[in-house]
Amino acid sequence: MTPQPATPLTPRTLRALTEGDIAALQVIDDAAHGQAWSQRTFTDEVERSDRLHLVAETDSGIVGHASAWIDGSSCRITNVAVAPDHHGSGHATSLLLALIHQALASTKVANLQLEVRPANRRAQRMYGRFGFVPVGIERNFYDRSDDQGNKDAVIMAVVDVCTDVWRERLSALQDEHDLSTNNTDAGAAA
Ligand SMILES: CC(C)(COP(=O)(O)OP(=O)(O)OC[C@H]1O[C@@H](n2cnc3c(N)ncnc32)[C@H](O)[C@@H]1OP(=O)(O)O)[C@@H](O)C(=O)NCCC(=O)NCCS
Repeated sequence: MTPQPATPLTPRTLRALTEGDIAALQVIDDAAHGQAWSQRTFTDEVERSDRLHLVAETDSGIVGHASAWIDGSSCRITNVAVAPDHHGSGHATSLLLALIHQALASTKVANLQLEVRPANRRAQRMYGRFGFVPVGIERNFYDRSDDQGNKDAVIMAVVDVCTDVWRERLSALQDEHDLSTNNTDAGAAA
């Protein structure tokens, strides 16, 4: 069943991460993953030119963020997290769309990759809408076990971002997302 938006849709701004956002993002990551990067790790990430970081903000403040690492021809999605009170409002979809468009602006990016917990069906469903498919398992990827005592990750990928089929899929997803949010995104992928 498709969840209803958790909150009335308010204009959402997507913008680059700044150091002033770090404390709020640590709270979101702690709630989303049970752990968060240290201040130092966030600061290092912000300073690195091969990293992409976007923050989603509404009237309620920062509601989520997403990040990626441009690793040669791969764009590795390193985090997508939305504050629990704001799930189901399209924030993660919006962040991921903008992050992927930023990554594709780098012409050397040929594929997209990410890791996700096997039990995290919701995230896998979202990534599936973007055309990510499972391509393998990474044993003991996570430091912490999930509720089932599992530390493994499912690796998901878009193996070739240059195919017309995938580009059309991304474009259709963007159109559908724009319609469902009534173009509430502002400043996307600045
Ligand atoms: C996975 C996660 C990032 C999704 O964030 P989100 O902002 O709720 O995602 P979206 O709102 O874009 O999409 C979630 C659902 O809302 C629906 N939705 C999005 N916009 C909507 C709208 N305007 N109206 C109605 N439904 C909408 C989507 O169709 C989707 O449905 P589904 O869950 O049935 O597939 C979030 O649950 C989270 O932070 N989880 C913990 C961390 C995590 O798992 N991160 C990913 C792995 S690293």
